[in-house]
Amino acid sequence: MDSIRIRGGRPLAGEIPISGAKNAALPLMAAALLCQGPLILENVPRLADIRTMASLLAQHGLNVERQGPEGRRLVLGGRITSTEAPYDIVRKMRASVLVLGPLLARTGEARVSLPGGCAIGTRPVDIHLKGLQELGAEVRLEQGYIHARVAGRLRGAQIVLPFASVGATENLLMAATLAEGRTEIANAAREPEIGDLATCLNRMGARIEGIGTDRLVIEGVRELSGARHAIIPDRIEAGTYACAAAITGGEVRLRGARLEHIAALARALGDAGVEVMEEAEGILVRRAGKLKGVDVMTEPYPGFPTDMQAQFMALMSVAEGAAMVTETIFENRFMHVPELNRMGARINVHRASAIVRGVKQLCGAPVMATDLRASVSLVLAGLAAKGETIVHRVYHLDRGYEVLEQKLAACGADIERISGSA
Ligand code: UD1
Repeated sequence: MDSIRIRGGRPLAGEIPISGAKNAALPLMAAALLCQGPLILENVPRLADIRTMASLLAQHGLNVERQGPEGRRLVLGGRITSTEAPYDIVRKMRASVLVLGPLLARTGEARVSLPGGCAIGTRPVDIHLKGLQELGAEVRLEQGYIHARVAGRLRGAQIVLPFASVGATENLLMAATLAEGRTEIANAAREPEIGDLATCLNRMGARIEGIGTDRLVIEGVRELSGARHAIIPDRIEAGTYACAAAITGGEVRLRGARLEHIAALARALGDAGVEVMEEAEGILVRRAGKLKGVDVMTEPYPGFPTDMQAQFMALMSVAEGAAMVTETIFENRFMHVPELNRMGARINVHRASAIVRGVKQLCGAPVMATDLRASVSLVLAGLAAKGETIVHRVYHLDRGYEVLEQKLAACGADIERISGSA
């Protein structure tokens, strides 16, 4: 297994190109199941999770072809030959459950392995299933699988989500595009990735209104066709590198990033003493003065993203004063805390909140994490720490960050991948 070695203490300076958004690409790929194709997606990031979704779609019978000079174009299409999403693929990536809505809407049937628990909590799919039942599906759970069926087409319905779940909104939105009649999804999640999905679905012939709001109205159509769509930039990747610039006291241009997508983070960074400026081609992030402790609480978009919580906590661990970081989305998302503390941070967790008392300097250490964002928070800590940090279990990073060490090294970080170490 690879690891990453960092020798900390160098301020980052330079430019980082922001890749296409992983969390937009995954549902967009699943949307290929709604039509014969071809669905042509541009700006697709090169990540392990994208390969996992590609192999799942291939197992459903679709052709998935990478094209273009860097393989950033995906061409998807073909006939569905299997409606089963097997445990072996779903267990690798929870987002596999996004094939459920499209398979059911298109073929009238889907058998998808239950995703089960994961490092950051139990993460049930009850909201997805209840919504599909409201659209007329019969849903049974048997032998670890979700079995959903409908005779004929799904039927439009009024759905009120009990919580603005990102995945449930995406699954129900995709399913409703092919339902008979009109569907309304109230309390829908508003993440930019959902807007990107809805925009692409409309290009495929869907009739969705209310994009970007918490009330999506979908007029069902009989069929969708192929389309071409460029994926939005990854706001979490951009936010992560913004924190990297901030924690090292550097200056970095995030090429392609959109400030409107990271507004809550930009406000928190501003309060902490970090300059975040919109430019023609992206965002400039700079810190010259001291970092100050700022309280944040994670919330559904447009609130502060849970996917930035660990990185922001790493930043707060070297700020002046204290910061309270409260996690409201996932119940078990402080796995980075003990590792950050091993690097000299002073963080105490009490239920859903962590009190971070800033220290002057972190110290390098061997560390490892159990999920994607926790792992990258340790990389950020390593960039600011004195001495050497080795981050183990790099496969978590490879799920969501494209050539992370190259992007950071190009801005002057002393960072390298060591292949094959335990
Ligand atoms: C997506 C993102 C993930 C991000 C999360 C929250 C993708 C591929 N992943 O995950 O990176 O951290 O949004 O912004 O886009 N819940 C239920 N029942 C359900 C569904 C969800 O109780 O049926 C709960 C979950 O356990 C969790 C919360 O709702 O506590 C948020 O989950 P959700 O918004 O669905 O996140 P994902 O779509 O899984």
